[in-house]
Amino acid sequence: MPYAQVVKRTHYCNDLSESHTGQTVTLNGWVSRVREFPDTRFIVLRDRTGIVQITVDSSNPCFANADLCKSEFVLEVTGVVQARAMQNKTDAYATGAIEIIPSNLEILAKAKPVPFPVDGTPVTASEEIRLKYRYLDLRREPLREALKLRSKTISSIYQFLDAEGFISVETPMLTKSTPEGARDYLVPSRTSAGNFYALPQSPQLFKQLLMIANFDKYFQIARCFRDEDLRADRQPDFTQLDIEMSFVDVDDVLELNERLLQHVFKQTLNLEIPLPLPRLTYADALNRFGSDKPDQRFGLEIQDASSILAESGFAVFKSALEANGTVRVLVAPAELSRKQIEALEQVAKQNGAKGLAWTKTTASGLEGGIAKFLSPTEITGLLELTGAIIGQTLLFGADSKDTTLKALGAVRLTLRDELQLITADSPRFHMSWVVDFPLLEWDEDNQRFTFMHHPFTSPTLEDLAKFGTPEMGSMKARAYDLVINGYEVGGGSIRIHNPEVQEKMFNAIGFSTAEARNRFGFFMEALEYGTPPHGGIAWGLDRMVAVMANVETIRDVIAFPKNAKGADVMADAPSAVDEVQLTNLHIKLR
Ligand code: AMO
Ligand code: AMP
Repeated sequence: MPYAQVVKRTHYCNDLSESHTGQTVTLNGWVSRVREFPDTRFIVLRDRTGIVQITVDSSNPCFANADLCKSEFVLEVTGVVQARAMQNKTDAYATGAIEIIPSNLEILAKAKPVPFPVDGTPVTASEEIRLKYRYLDLRREPLREALKLRSKTISSIYQFLDAEGFISVETPMLTKSTPEGARDYLVPSRTSAGNFYALPQSPQLFKQLLMIANFDKYFQIARCFRDEDLRADRQPDFTQLDIEMSFVDVDDVLELNERLLQHVFKQTLNLEIPLPLPRLTYADALNRFGSDKPDQRFGLEIQDASSILAESGFAVFKSALEANGTVRVLVAPAELSRKQIEALEQVAKQNGAKGLAWTKTTASGLEGGIAKFLSPTEITGLLELTGAIIGQTLLFGADSKDTTLKALGAVRLTLRDELQLITADSPRFHMSWVVDFPLLEWDEDNQRFTFMHHPFTSPTLEDLAKFGTPEMGSMKARAYDLVINGYEVGGGSIRIHNPEVQEKMFNAIGFSTAEARNRFGFFMEALEYGTPPHGGIAWGLDRMVAVMANVETIRDVIAFPKNAKGADVMADAPSAVDEVQLTNLHIKLR
């Protein structure tokens, strides 16, 4: 077995076609599969572009080596491209019209049998096993293609922002806490006993400092670290496209980002995104879809049945309305079975509702479930409001507005999946901005207001005067989220650039001036040295690429992700460390 390569690759597998017939080429790659016939070995060779078949007859001097080949051996093959006989051509893969007849076939490395197939046959191995052998899983085409898409996305971002005059700046990883609402990952200092760095939850403060420093237009593909409960669309370390601009208002930031999106989708997927993108207020998003990140690829909007049911004899509705709550209704476009309704009720309950009342539309109006509690006027009213037709199911939530909308929003998404409401006719991507967010939200646990985005978000100018008044809860933010197919793909805001307003904001969320100075003193001070009005956004790059690639989890677009428990099962992190290391870091484990 030669230790080094003998001849350099001339082509990648997928470069080859019938037009190369007769040419001698050298390929490098892995054995994807070997088919053994008494007188022939068919080796499917794989490189990062695709596969090509190497055909070796027993009369070929390469046969002895070909006979040794097993899955995932690394080969160097020199041979002549030959058009396959008509009956042997296949369009199952791109190079199915040709094969290579080798004149030299070297095994550069052997491979142990792999723990799961990587040759395109379905993988049944658990995700833990796939993550443990991530470097093998990455040999599979879907993962490789997703990472190529990610690379292309990043490259098109650089291309666009560079042409627009943005400067890419790196900001520190070892830093101080940035309040984005998650827990920090802490790094103990060796040289400063008992003190810790925090890994950044985002570059928020640094990019604002860069605006103060006259960079005017900044961006960064930035790693961020958040210690929070993991989900399919969350990783403890993830990547943002972070952007900040000076002397801008909301429309400027949205306009720039829309053109960037258009550019990225054109460059990567060759899709035209019509602009401007629709904007939806936070209030509308909740009222219509029960979510601040609505999936608008399908309709199924929530409707308010409160006034129709104001005199309802159904105790559940009556008590909800008497308690200043609401009754909302969702029309499932199918006659749901008992079992389906029960499953949806569970979804509603998991999302805070007490139940999910239902009834069905039939030729005689409404039947089953709560129909018996409804008066003829109420039935007519509900049919008119919803426009429901025969053979559908009405689902009701009755509770406080927040609880009802959240629960029905979750039921709506379950119906999307259960009834397969996304069809070939649905838009592949639905993009919109959600705007007019509240500035603050009430924190029940601590009985005070907290920020909805982060504490550097500017209120609207009209609402500035409401700081410290009983109307604080109704203040609106100059904030926006980018939502694609039901994912919050990005979020940002115009920032507070006035130090006094920043102090009011900190006070509003319960930081005394002293506490604010203690945590963000450097930033508060910087604000006093001439801060331009500024604003920006961060895209969750992993989420963006996952949406573009139409995969279920962002793990599928990250080369080396953590599992659902936040562990790297391949490298075995987190793991215990030496006593000496701990001592150096002044740490004693409990
Ligand atoms: P925000 O906290 O909304 O804003 O984050 C921006 C975007 O980052 C993505 N994201 C995540 N992706 C994967 N895993 C996670 N754990 C995770 N957390 C967030 C989301 C989100 O929309 N500094 C502000 C931005 C700004 O105001 O400019 C910020 O970080 O897609
Ligand atoms: P119950 O009166 O508890 O037997 O409930 C009758 C129906 O009303 C069941 O289908 C419950 O799921 C539903 N239900 C109970 N509480 C609520 C609620 N707060 N909102 C909507 N439906 C509810």
